[in-house]
Amino acid sequence: MFRPLLFILVCILGACSSEPKMQEVNIIPQPQSLTLSQGSFAFSKNTTWQSDSFFVNELDYFKSVVTLKNNGKYNLVIASLDTTLEQEEYYLDIRLDTLQITASHSKGVMHAIQTVRQISMLHPSYAPCLHIKDYPIFEWRGMLLDCSRHFMDKDFVKRYIDLLALHKMNVLHWHITEDQGWRIAIDSFPKLTEIGAWRTEKDGSKYGGFYSKKDIKEIVDYASQRHILVVPEIELPGHCQAALSAYPYLSCTGDSIPVQTDWGVFKDIYCAGNDSVFAFLETVLDEVIEMFPSPYIHIGGDEVPTYRWENCSKCQARIHEEKLEDEHHLQSYFINRIANYLKQKNKTIIGWDEVSEGEITKDAHIQVWRGTDYGLLAIEKGHSLIMSPTSHCYFDYDLDAIDLEKVYDFDPIPSLEFENKVLGAECNMWTERAPQNLIDSKVFPRILAMSEVLWHYGEKDYSSFYQRVQKHYSLLDFYGVDYGFEGVPISAKVTSENEGFQFQLISSSPGVSISYRLDNQDWQDYSQSLFVDTTTTIEAKGSKNNKDYGSLKTTLFKTKSTFKPVNYVLPFHENYPAKSSLTLTDGQIGSQTKFRDGNWQGFYGTDLEVIIDLQKIDSLSQISIGFFQYNLSWILLPKEVVLSISNDGINFKEVNRLSHNVSDQKEGKFRHNMTSAFNYNARYIKVKASNYGILPDWHPAAGATSWLFVDEIMIQ
Ligand code: ACM
Ligand code: ZN
Repeated sequence: MFRPLLFILVCILGACSSEPKMQEVNIIPQPQSLTLSQGSFAFSKNTTWQSDSFFVNELDYFKSVVTLKNNGKYNLVIASLDTTLEQEEYYLDIRLDTLQITASHSKGVMHAIQTVRQISMLHPSYAPCLHIKDYPIFEWRGMLLDCSRHFMDKDFVKRYIDLLALHKMNVLHWHITEDQGWRIAIDSFPKLTEIGAWRTEKDGSKYGGFYSKKDIKEIVDYASQRHILVVPEIELPGHCQAALSAYPYLSCTGDSIPVQTDWGVFKDIYCAGNDSVFAFLETVLDEVIEMFPSPYIHIGGDEVPTYRWENCSKCQARIHEEKLEDEHHLQSYFINRIANYLKQKNKTIIGWDEVSEGEITKDAHIQVWRGTDYGLLAIEKGHSLIMSPTSHCYFDYDLDAIDLEKVYDFDPIPSLEFENKVLGAECNMWTERAPQNLIDSKVFPRILAMSEVLWHYGEKDYSSFYQRVQKHYSLLDFYGVDYGFEGVPISAKVTSENEGFQFQLISSSPGVSISYRLDNQDWQDYSQSLFVDTTTTIEAKGSKNNKDYGSLKTTLFKTKSTFKPVNYVLPFHENYPAKSSLTLTDGQIGSQTKFRDGNWQGFYGTDLEVIIDLQKIDSLSQISIGFFQYNLSWILLPKEVVLSISNDGINFKEVNRLSHNVSDQKEGKFRHNMTSAFNYNARYIKVKASNYGILPDWHPAAGATSWLFVDEIMIQ
């Protein structure tokens, strides 16, 4: 039924025949320069599309992503060549009657089209008049997607390629072989996917999937149309248990082993002493090269336990024949042999930063993940870098470790030595704890900050970026992105004051109202910071636009040692400093399950040895020290804790030894408190907890160094 009144109303309110008003545009990453003018260009069924012959494919793509209206307008879209521009540079000139893109390369044209996609999203047949001159600072702007720990279907991968292109990212680093699943069909070794793509979960169910050669071609073609480089990662010599389960002859022991179901680092790796392993890998890589036009092949190289090699006669014979110093040099031998093979095929390798510890070919690119020191090491050895430090780039980490602002703060060039050596960076979406349905909420909105950081360099303005992110959500809604929070929705910021806790309840997002209660009393609206000076449990919940927006429950513990200074006889590890020297007595206790929560302090291969100064001789009755165990992450309880006391801080007397009877093989993540009566009068308490030591034979990463995690020390 025709409803004239409603039709007229829509025309008045909306964009029926008149142009929409577009007084502002919102683009992420922000163009290098942008001038907005009045009016807009209307895409029409009568629009003439004209392009330099180099850009024909891009123009076809352009037509497919805009809505052409029957509006009677005759106008022109033109893509012209200007060879003086850089490859990714573009000009976008939008006038009432012409939309002109100028670039030297189809990559620049694609960026211009993605800009139009962003600015014309709410009115898909209009683009506001403006002039943009734009180019990226970093040439490598990537995202790693781990489709091995969890399998992502083909259409999901294509959707991500599209979302990357929309934000002018240009590399999909595709992690498709792992301990927990081999995901790429290799004709010469069919068991890789028949067996290696499927794991039997602890509940007996089968989990898995893989990409056929046809799927891969479809994905690579889709990416290539959008100028996204797909770099496959074929992990070696470690993280390959799925391949070993398919072909046990590839391992040192030859034993039949299952596709792994746990997460971690595992000791069964490719045998480096067996030439048929290299023959296997070369054949696999030949097929990989046929599928992926990328000039780069990522060969992994991270987290390689040498335990099997140390105990394998073939590997030991190889060390002897090749006159190698040890198993670490055997790792370099392995990587170099593969790198040389790939070089003959005109492919450059990329490896995780462990591979640069040995001498490997200089043209290998190094992907830095463990920390910037490893980047320096690689620079000294002549490599170029792709930066993905865990501190800013690991999007599998929770928001309490890496929130939107932290990603925005990321500096791919952490010091002068890195200048001219950094190609760019990648955010890494590892998927141990993220099946396909959680990926959006982990990647977005954090990847917006990454795209902005890599497009620009130098001055940062978080508040301007943040404003644009708020407007960008309607674009993400339009594309069905199930984005997550920008930061921890509610957190408690606690400081010590007058021997008590001053705390604020904070939301990372504006417009969140918070209510709270203390020790199960009545709920109240939160408006200003609170003070408590006894042990107190705080609960809080947030709400935004009448929807729940996060919650929090935490207990602050007040004991005789709370807020007392801690002196470190031995240092903690820089990767897990927690709140540095305040953390062990701040009254805030490390989480039961999350060792990266900012309370847990880590010691790698070393003991905990600290002296707590109670600042006066006090009469004591109990001591309790919290430790963490998660053996798959190499975190184990201490062997023993030795307690000593002193009144002068110099002469200590040992008074107590604590032990536990928790098995090192106990699965899962948990805190274990070692608590004991402590009936002494003392001012200084020395706590020495001995590191578990080298991981034993039963451990999947046997031979590796273990972590000791502690928080908190409470003395009553
Ligand atoms: C890595 O996260 N193991 C590269
Ligand atoms: Zn071996």
